[in-house]
Amino acid sequence: MKIALTYNLKVKDATKPADYASEYDSEETINAISSALRSQGHHVEFVEVSRQNLFSVLKDSRVDMVFNIAEGKHGKFRESEIPAILDYLEIPYTGSSTLSLAVALNKALTKKILKAENIPTPAYQLFTSGEEEVDPSLRFPLIVKPNFEGSAKGITRNNVVDNKAELYLKVKELINSYNQQALVEEFIEGKELTVGVLENGTALVLPVLEIDFSSAATSGEYFYSWRMKEFQGDSQQGLTPTFHCPARLDKDTEDLVKETALLTHRAIGCFDISRTDIRLSPDNVPYVLEINPLPGLNPKESNFPLMAYAAGMKYEDLIDSIVTSAQQRRNLTHG
Ligand SMILES: Nc1ncnc2c1ncn2[C@@H]1O[C@H](COP(=O)(O)OP(=O)(O)OP(=O)(O)O)[C@@H](O)[C@H]1O
Ligand SMILES: [Mg+2]
Repeated sequence: MKIALTYNLKVKDATKPADYASEYDSEETINAISSALRSQGHHVEFVEVSRQNLFSVLKDSRVDMVFNIAEGKHGKFRESEIPAILDYLEIPYTGSSTLSLAVALNKALTKKILKAENIPTPAYQLFTSGEEEVDPSLRFPLIVKPNFEGSAKGITRNNVVDNKAELYLKVKELINSYNQQALVEEFIEGKELTVGVLENGTALVLPVLEIDFSSAATSGEYFYSWRMKEFQGDSQQGLTPTFHCPARLDKDTEDLVKETALLTHRAIGCFDISRTDIRLSPDNVPYVLEINPLPGLNPKESNFPLMAYAAGMKYEDLIDSIVTSAQQRRNLTHG
C-alpha cells in the first residue's frame, strides 16, 4: 500500500516553554515506523502536519491509508484535527476516530464516562475559574493537572498538594499558564501500571508494565512527572525508573488490571491501539488515570513498545498489527 505517515516533529524552540514539544515525535520514532512499514512492502510518504498546505497535501496524496501519530496543532481538540481532515477526504487511517481522540484528551470527560461504566477512577473536581469551593469529600493529598495535556506536561512533584492553600495556588497557576481548566484528583499511592491494548480482529491486551520509581530517590521524582518522562534514563539527575514487564502482580490482580484497561478502551471507543494508565491502590483497586489513544512509539524509550516486546513481538509486528487492524476495520465498514 501507499501509506502517508502523519506526525508532528519534535524540534527545540528556545522561544517556547520547555515542555512545548514534549508530545511531539523524534526523528528516531518517525524513522522506526517508516522502516517498519517499508519492511512490510509499503511505500511511505512523510507528512509533518504543521505545514501550511496540509489539506491539499493530503487531498493530492492519493494514499491508500494514513498511519497517524500526529498530535495536531493547537487547542482542546487538536488530536482530532488530522482524522477530521481524513474523514472529510475519505482516506482511511490507523488509530482512533475524531470522537475518541477528543474525549481522551479531555481527562475530566473521560473520567465521567469511566464512572458511568463503573470503572474505578480517582475522585476528582474540575476547576474553571480557580475560585470554586473545593469539594469537602475530596481527601488530601490531591494532585493538580492541566485537563487537556499529555506527556505529563505541567506535572511536577509540586502538583501534589497537602492543604487548601497549596491547592488554590497550584490550580490558579495551571489555569493561567496552560490557559485551560485544572483537574484536581485524589492522589493514589501505590503501583504505577500501564496497559497496552491492540485490536486486531480480537483485542490483545499486552503484558502489564509496572514502572517503579524507588530508584529515582536522588531526584525526588517519585511518580511519572514531566521531568521523569522528558529526561527518562538520565541517571545523573536520578531519572531512571525501573520497568517490570510483566508487572509484579498476582494472577487475579493482573487479570483485573487487564480487564479494566480493556473496558476503558471499549468505553472510550478506541480503535487499533491504546495505552491505559493505572494506579493500583494498596487495597488492589485499579484506578484509571487516563487512556492514551496515541501512545508514544519510540522503539527504545516508549512504554508501549516495551509491552509489545514482552509479548514476543518485534517493533515491525507492532506496526503491522496497527495497520492490519485499521485495514480490517475499513473492510468491515465497506462490506
Ligand atoms: N491521581 C493520581 N494519583 C497518583 N499519581 C497520579 C495521579 N494522577 C497522575 N499521577 C501521576 O502523574 C503521571 C502523569 O499523569 P497523567 O497520566 O494523568 O498525565 P498525562 O500527561 O496525560 O500522561 P501521559 O504522558 O501518559 O500522556 C501518572 O503517570 C502518575 O505517575
Ligand atoms: Mg499518562
